[in-house]
Amino acid sequence: MKHRTPGSVFIPLLLLVVLAAFMMIIPEDFLPETGLKGIIPNAWHQLTNVLSYWIVWIVLFLSLIMMLVVDGLNKVIERKRFSLLSPEEKAKYLKEKEQGFFSRLIKSSKERQSEEEEKEIILDHGFDGILELDNALPQWWVAMFYLGIVYCVIYIVAYFSTDFAHPNMEYEVEAARMETQFADWVKQNDINVDQATIENADVEHGKEIFGNICATCHTANGGGAAGPNLTDEYWINHLNDDLYKNIYTVVYDGSPNNPAMQAFGQTNQLTGLDIQDVAAYVYSLNQEEPLVTESEGGLAPQGDLVESWKRQ
Ligand code: HEC
Repeated sequence: MKHRTPGSVFIPLLLLVVLAAFMMIIPEDFLPETGLKGIIPNAWHQLTNVLSYWIVWIVLFLSLIMMLVVDGLNKVIERKRFSLLSPEEKAKYLKEKEQGFFSRLIKSSKERQSEEEEKEIILDHGFDGILELDNALPQWWVAMFYLGIVYCVIYIVAYFSTDFAHPNMEYEVEAARMETQFADWVKQNDINVDQATIENADVEHGKEIFGNICATCHTANGGGAAGPNLTDEYWINHLNDDLYKNIYTVVYDGSPNNPAMQAFGQTNQLTGLDIQDVAAYVYSLNQEEPLVTESEGGLAPQGDLVESWKRQ
C-alpha cells in the first residue's frame, strides 16, 4: 500500500500555488523595476498588492478548508486500507511510515518496481521486444496538470473578456508610467538661470526647438518677423548683464513689455534642459551665425545697441 502525502506538505504547497496564480493574474499597481535585479522587489510588491484584495483571502481560506477536508478523507481511506492489510504488510507499512515523507520521497526516486510488480502493470502490446509499463503518474504531477487546465481557463477568460492585458489598457498604463518617469526626470533636471551654461547645452537640440516653436515669429535664421531680429547687436530686453543669461531669462519669463513673447518656462511649455539648449542656440545665432540684414529679409534693429554684447 502506498503512503499518502501528509497534509503538512501538500496544503502549504497548494496554498502557494493559489497565491502564485493570483500574482500572475492581478495587474500590478506599481512601477516594476526592469531587469534581473527587479525580480525580488517586484515579487514582493506584487505579493503585498495581491494580499490587499479580500477575494484572495477568501479563496485562500476556502482552499484551506477544502484541503483540510481532503486530508481528513485521505486519513480515513488510509485507516480503512490499513485494516485490510496482512500483519506483515502492516508492520512494513508502519516501519516505512516512521521514515518520514521526505526520506521516503528520496528513496522512492532511486527505487524501481520488483519483477512481480512489473508483471502486474505491463501492457499487452510491444514492438521489437520493447514493452511498456502502465505506471501510475505521481499525484503531484496529475495535480499540476489539472491546475494547469484551470489556470488556462481563467487566463483565457481574463484575456478575452476583461481589460486584463488589453492593448488599450496596457497603452494607458505604459503612457502613465512614461509620464511619471518624464516628470521625475524634469524635476531632477529642471535648472534655473544661474545653473544654465552654454558649455552644458545641447545646441543641436536647441536648434530643433527653435525650428519647432520660435521660428514662426523669429524665422529659422533668426532674422525676425513677428518677433525681433535676433542676429543683430540691438536688444529690447535687458533683464541680465550677461547676454546668454539675458536670452535665458526672456525665454523663461517672457517679455515684460510684449505678451507675444510668452513666458515659455513659467508656463511649462519648455521644461528640463530645453531652455538652456534653445538659449544657447539663440546665443550662437547672435554671436557666430552671419547677421541677417534687412536686404536679406531681416528686420531692422529694435532696442538699444549693447556694447558688451557685441560679437567678439
Ligand atoms: C508668437 C511669436 C513669438 C514666438 C513664438 C517667440 N517669440 Fe521671441 N519674441 C517675440 C516678440 C514679439 C519679441 C519682442 C518682445 C519685446 O518687445 O519685448 C520677442 C523677443 C525675444 C527675445 C528678446 C529679443 C530682444 O531684443 O529683447 C528673445 C531672445 C526671443 N524672443 C527668443 C525666442 C525664443 C528662443 C523663442 C522660442 C522658444 C521665441 N522667442 C518664440 C515673439 C515671439
